[in-house]
Amino acid sequence: MEVELEQKTIALVTGDGSGPEMMAVACKIVDEAAKSYGLEIIWEETPMGWGAYHKYGDTLPPESLKRAVEIGTIFFGGVGDFENDKTIGAEKPEMKPEARALLPIRKQMGLLLNFRPMIYFPGLESLSNVKPENIPSGGVEQHFIRFLLQDSYFGNADFLGSPMVDSETMKHLGIKLKKDVKATDYQVADLAYFTGDSVRQYLYAAFKYAGALNLPLISIDKANVMARYDFWRKICNEIALEFPEVEVKHQLVDSANALLFYPGELHGVIACGNEHGDILSDGAAGALGSMGMMCSSAINPDTGAAMFESGAGTAPDIAGQDKANPIGRILTGAMMLEHLGYIEAGSNIKGAVKKALLSGYRTADIFCKGSDDPKKILGCQAMGKKILENM
Ligand code: IPM
Ligand code: MG
Repeated sequence: MEVELEQKTIALVTGDGSGPEMMAVACKIVDEAAKSYGLEIIWEETPMGWGAYHKYGDTLPPESLKRAVEIGTIFFGGVGDFENDKTIGAEKPEMKPEARALLPIRKQMGLLLNFRPMIYFPGLESLSNVKPENIPSGGVEQHFIRFLLQDSYFGNADFLGSPMVDSETMKHLGIKLKKDVKATDYQVADLAYFTGDSVRQYLYAAFKYAGALNLPLISIDKANVMARYDFWRKICNEIALEFPEVEVKHQLVDSANALLFYPGELHGVIACGNEHGDILSDGAAGALGSMGMMCSSAINPDTGAAMFESGAGTAPDIAGQDKANPIGRILTGAMMLEHLGYIEAGSNIKGAVKKALLSGYRTADIFCKGSDDPKKILGCQAMGKKILENM
């Protein structure tokens, strides 16, 4: 008997560099998992990045942005590569797709919460770049939740010309838009800001998440020297009163960075501002194994709108060589299915990835000389196939 499948449209950005190769593998796996649990995905391509520039003259074609926002769920392969940055990007810096595409999507869709789980599984210590004796035998869960709006990434654009700060003051402070910055400028400033409402909404969600996972909340800040992080810590302590069951730790960002080499010290839900979260999550992925393993979702807690973007780069240096590690994109696809309510389909993918890794299969970036079997090094497609077999 044919089972009626639910249909769901998802905006697809295959992206630049190795993005299209990794996304082809990831979409296939997501399709398979979704179908087994009653969901048919209709992929609608919404081109962005340098590839889109070469076709449509814009790294963020207005129609792509419009459709992606309307659809409300985006599977995003990553944008940007150094070659185009050097040529077209040098002439038209405003076209550089990382800032042009990602930041407006995050802002327009109100993607406040950025989940980046880093899980150390027992038996997979050799994947990690941390000394094995520093990894607790029971494994470690680091659930990074990055505050994805405001902070230094949006300040200048949000405040320039706004009634809150007049243009004379902006000029006096040296605040400019990126496209207006010249190498000869005497002074350039980035305005970093938090609003109480957003930080409160964000930290409330982080506490709830920590409570649900029965993990401590580790709040990252720089309250010893920075006003916005003093503000952050005060709000954190206020909200903590509403969650007496959640243990709270405050960790300064610089020392948190050192603790990435002692993963057990950061076992918990890790709440961090936009800029701190960007930096720490790359470090955490490098410690765990490779940037290619990072998975990431960005969610609007009010509307459910979401973007699933691995958070890692596009590996342009190995593009077209079938060498890139697709695991980050695949796990990001699992997060997407979970967000859509297909929890088991997501678990199915995660289990299949774990099985492939526990059976010793590796892409080149996570291969460890000495402990791994060189015969089990797989390319992008073969790794995808191996994971599909395990599902
Ligand atoms: C990430 C990326 C982006 C960010 C860039 C590409 C704008 O590094 O998602 O971590 O800084 O947020
Ligand atoms: Mg980053």
